Amino acid sequence: MRILVIGGSGQTGRLVIDEALQRGHKITALIRNPSALPAKEGLNIVKGTPVEPSNIESAFNAVQGDLPTAVIVTLSSPKEKGTRVMSDAHENLVAAMKRHGVSKIATMASFGVGSSLANINVIMRWAISNTSLGHLFADHNLVDEILKKSGLNFIVLRPARLTMAKKAPVQFLGDDGKGLGVFAGLGGISRASVAACLVDAVEKSTWDRSTPVISN
Ligand SMILES: NC(=O)c1ccc[n+]([C@@H]2O[C@H](COP(=O)([O-])OP(=O)(O)OC[C@H]3O[C@@H](n4cnc5c(N)ncnc54)[C@H](OP(=O)(O)O)[C@@H]3O)[C@@H](O)[C@H]2O)c1
Repeated sequence: MRILVIGGSGQTGRLVIDEALQRGHKITALIRNPSALPAKEGLNIVKGTPVEPSNIESAFNAVQGDLPTAVIVTLSSPKEKGTRVMSDAHENLVAAMKRHGVSKIATMASFGVGSSLANINVIMRWAISNTSLGHLFADHNLVDEILKKSGLNFIVLRPARLTMAKKAPVQFLGDDGKGLGVFAGLGGISRASVAACLVDAVEKSTWDRSTPVISN
């Protein structure tokens, strides 16, 4: 399949691209600075930003006769009050997906989003409530609402602390992430494991319309 990757220049996004190419998929990556990614067989790079609807349209139409059939998002947002980078990107993506008849989207969010806030460790819960991290989480929470209302086959993964370790087995802990104990999330999950889960999520329907917390 051809997968549209949003956030492909980031640390997890690059691993998503590599994982998907290794599995034989084709990739269109919409990124702000095309020189950030090395050229690769099967990878089409489109210059632009997901907060601009016309750039998303260009990414959908980048390869004639080979429309993306799934979207993977590994974006971040600036930790600024009122930031809407991720929520605006998802509103634009949902509209473009509906226009093009594409129904599958897998998004990387975070442990601490939505109902999982109650079960993240106390340090992170404090930081989300009392520091600028809260602005990023507010944007993640908006994305959750947008996708739940979209009618699409969405998957929102809520990973624990991200690491650069190798790919490893993944625990799926349900939407609220119960069961990780008082250090919940601090053990973490490798970005490579998250990347593999995101590609699994668009290949299969196992996690459609769910928002699982994941950890190694
Ligand atoms: N750190 C953790 O332990 C942890 C744990 C769980 C979840 N998360 C979540 O993981 C995400 C970060 O993942 P990561 O570390 O792999 O990401 P990253 O390396 O920071 O990459 C972020 C991506 O988002 C893009 N981006 C950022 N701001 C943008 C903007 N204003 N407009 C357009 N694109 C923008 C970047 O594009 P450019 O290359 O153009 O800047 C890049 O492709 C965040 O959403 C965070 O909440 C983090």
